[in-house]
Amino acid sequence: MNAPASHPAATAASNTMDAFWMPFTANRQFKAHPRLLARAEGMYYWTPEGRKILDATAGLWCVNAGHGRSEIADAVSRQVRELDFAPTFQMGHPLPFELANRLAGMFPGDLNHIFFTNSGSESVDTALKLSLAYHRARGEGQRIRFIGRERGYHGVGFGGISVGGIVGNRKVFGPGLPGTDHLPHTHLPAKNAFSQGMPQHGAELADELERLVGLHDASTIAAVIVEPVACSTGVLVPPQGYLERLRAITERHGILLIFDEVITGFGRLGQPFAADYFKVMPDLITTAKGLTNGTVPMGAVAARDFVHDTIVNAAANPANAIELAHGYTYSGHPVACAAALATLDIYAREGLFARVAGLEQRWQAAVHSLRGRRHVVDIRNLGLIGAIELESRPGKPGTRAYDALVQAFENGLLIRVTGDIIALSPPLIVEPAQIDTIIDMLGSVLDSID
Ligand SMILES: Cc1ncc(COP(=O)(O)O)c(C=O)c1O
Repeated sequence: MNAPASHPAATAASNTMDAFWMPFTANRQFKAHPRLLARAEGMYYWTPEGRKILDATAGLWCVNAGHGRSEIADAVSRQVRELDFAPTFQMGHPLPFELANRLAGMFPGDLNHIFFTNSGSESVDTALKLSLAYHRARGEGQRIRFIGRERGYHGVGFGGISVGGIVGNRKVFGPGLPGTDHLPHTHLPAKNAFSQGMPQHGAELADELERLVGLHDASTIAAVIVEPVACSTGVLVPPQGYLERLRAITERHGILLIFDEVITGFGRLGQPFAADYFKVMPDLITTAKGLTNGTVPMGAVAARDFVHDTIVNAAANPANAIELAHGYTYSGHPVACAAALATLDIYAREGLFARVAGLEQRWQAAVHSLRGRRHVVDIRNLGLIGAIELESRPGKPGTRAYDALVQAFENGLLIRVTGDIIALSPPLIVEPAQIDTIIDMLGSVLDSID
């Protein structure tokens, strides 16, 4: 493992894992004891040796319609043959227009303008830049501050880690964007532990935004960005009334509100978007993941009419001006668009979002049935999301949940862990009996680890 690359041993079979520098992975630990997935269909993965693994995480919160959907595979394959790539800078092709229209019809209210990206991180960067461009176009270019939230996850771009609030993702990467600040997170275990659905306490934490406005002055703040449900940090469900309060305060001060719906978008809460579920209307929504069912990298940012129109129709713009100097080579990539259109067809045809709404009570009861099991100190849920928080081993945070991940995988169940929190987010096609299996398997895993 330690041989330099030029050494013959570097190409030996035992060393074939060295070249792939794995993301968000304990590389040395993983490569000593790899966990590989080779095939997937429906609710299951299979390992290279043929072991069947029940997917309780929809891959990485993205395979909402389940694995191996032939409609998407066919659409992608047709598209590569018909038009593999076409630029969208000063050129166009039909698919992103068609997809943007479909999405504009799905997003709530007047979130009618869609900017395509390739990932959640890029969607976040795009939304932050749209906020700056919007304020500048209306003559308030001094609004350059962003407010994120402690424990927030907004991807790994410099914008995203600056407004994000997970210390491990920030501490070695310098100061980030200047002028960012953070709301407190909403995790109040002393008052809200084992809440079913939205916790009762904590709406007043949104008022901290007034304090930050008092500190920085509203005239310097461009946008507030939050995940409606903070998922990657271990599933923090917003307290009742919290998001409404954030919306009222941002509106009062002319600050844009961005909902980062990279996970909550496309049905995870039983509605197309969390904005629909909570009935709170943000000014921008970021998405990715479920947009293509995880098959082809793609993200999308939806902007309300006034944001788009202010930037595009700014008085200073001559007709030949490129109104927003932003975009990616692959914005609106034909193959990604084909995958997204086929994905949206599946969601609509199979009524998958409504399916989640129908399963929510059953899911909630199942997840909370783990209360009282070994190590469990809190359980949280919303839509088809669940989290089981374990007591940390003294001085060894994260090791207990990691052992649960390893044991679950050995037993045939894929879960996700962050710190000592187990997060569950099965594909939206999960059957009630499979929910019971997930919970049974997890219960025995908890019994079996120290
Ligand atoms: C809320 C949120 N924003 C942004 C991202 C980043 O997305 P990506 O990994 O596609 O860049 C994630 C990824 O999990 C996310 O959950």
